Amino acid sequence: MAINIISSKDLYNIVKKTLEIMSKEIMKHGEITGYILYKMLQTEGRHSELELAEYSMIGMMHDIGVIKTGHNGGLVSVETKNVWAHSIYGYLFLRYLSPVSDKANIVLYHHLPYKLHSDIKNDYWRITEYLTVADKMDVYMRMKGHGMEQDYFVKNADVTFSSAALKLFNAAQAKYNILEKLKTGEYEAEMEELFSNVRFSEKYKKGFLEMLIYAIDFRSHQTVVHSLATTTFAVNIARLMRVPTEDLQIVYYGALLHDIGKIAIPLEILEAPRRLNDEEMRIMKAHVMITERILRGIIDDRVLEVAIRHHEKLDGSGYHRGLNGKELNTLQRIVAVADILSALYGKRSYKEAFDVQKIKDIMQEDADSGKICPKITGVVISNMQSILSNFEKQRDETIGVYETILDQYEIIYKNFKQFE
Ligand SMILES: [Fe+2]
Ligand SMILES: [Fe+2]
Ligand SMILES: [Fe+2]
Repeated sequence: MAINIISSKDLYNIVKKTLEIMSKEIMKHGEITGYILYKMLQTEGRHSELELAEYSMIGMMHDIGVIKTGHNGGLVSVETKNVWAHSIYGYLFLRYLSPVSDKANIVLYHHLPYKLHSDIKNDYWRITEYLTVADKMDVYMRMKGHGMEQDYFVKNADVTFSSAALKLFNAAQAKYNILEKLKTGEYEAEMEELFSNVRFSEKYKKGFLEMLIYAIDFRSHQTVVHSLATTTFAVNIARLMRVPTEDLQIVYYGALLHDIGKIAIPLEILEAPRRLNDEEMRIMKAHVMITERILRGIIDDRVLEVAIRHHEKLDGSGYHRGLNGKELNTLQRIVAVADILSALYGKRSYKEAFDVQKIKDIMQEDADSGKICPKITGVVISNMQSILSNFEKQRDETIGVYETILDQYEIIYKNFKQFE
């Protein structure tokens, strides 16, 4: 298997850029929180560099639940009003979708006051308490002059914060001058360096990226399995066409990331129970450009071009560049076909799922009219039954996870009400 098409640093940058597209403020907050946590743990000296990177990544993603809850009113509102909603969704994403599910409690409890910790079981209280301090340091710096007193941390020691965590922050500050590095922006290069130096396993990187993509798809029941379906179909088709192993990786990542730009598309448009009007269509189509904005300059160009050409047509009638067949290679064509198959196979707000014959007819028509690759379409049509049934188990599992997350959210939220 081709290793390192996506490096650990690429993964870090993709997460960062995606959060930035959602909200620059929340991305910055995550990045700074991740940095402070990293420096605290480094000062403590108990973890390997790989573990430091992993915790720093969790720090960066600690407010990832915001993808589901939205961020009206900005960071301060998210972090001070109804703090359980994003904590719980973040926890559920980590628990059910990520390669660090054992550490999900760190996110679940990042707003829980220290004095309540002793009543609850959590294998990661130490890290949770460090994260809580790192998180609040950044929020505090942003709110200075907005009502938080200077001695806020001291006054709340062992009530809101663990005094051990505060002590560690002070030690880290003395050793690394964290606050100065935040002011000058030097911390950004340090974060880049940390992720350049470590090597997450292929499985781990895939796991994190899948979590990010599914979290975006889970915003709407319309898109729950779309990226998964596109990826599974694309890899299946690529295998049937016997593309070389390295190309399978390109197809996999290109398909997985193709709709990452949908993070910026409003739910009302994703869920419109009708065909979109022209203005809505323009916004919807912009997801490809946003995908490009997130990925360009970060990942391998071959993966990028697969991801951002999934709506191009061989006859030049597609978007966003209106390329033609000569400019579209096999891997790009495969993901375009897989994307169409995923859309036809799934139920949408404006249509029911089609039966297999109807899917075949529509795809054949698209191939005959010069829109999609006839060779790939032929392979898909003659293997349709196996392509679809290979996907069914994964689809059911993912829908199961989605439903579990929604159910668990209600249950945990009720439980957290007592802490208000
Ligand atoms: Fe938070
Ligand atoms: Fe936060
Ligand atoms: Fe798309």
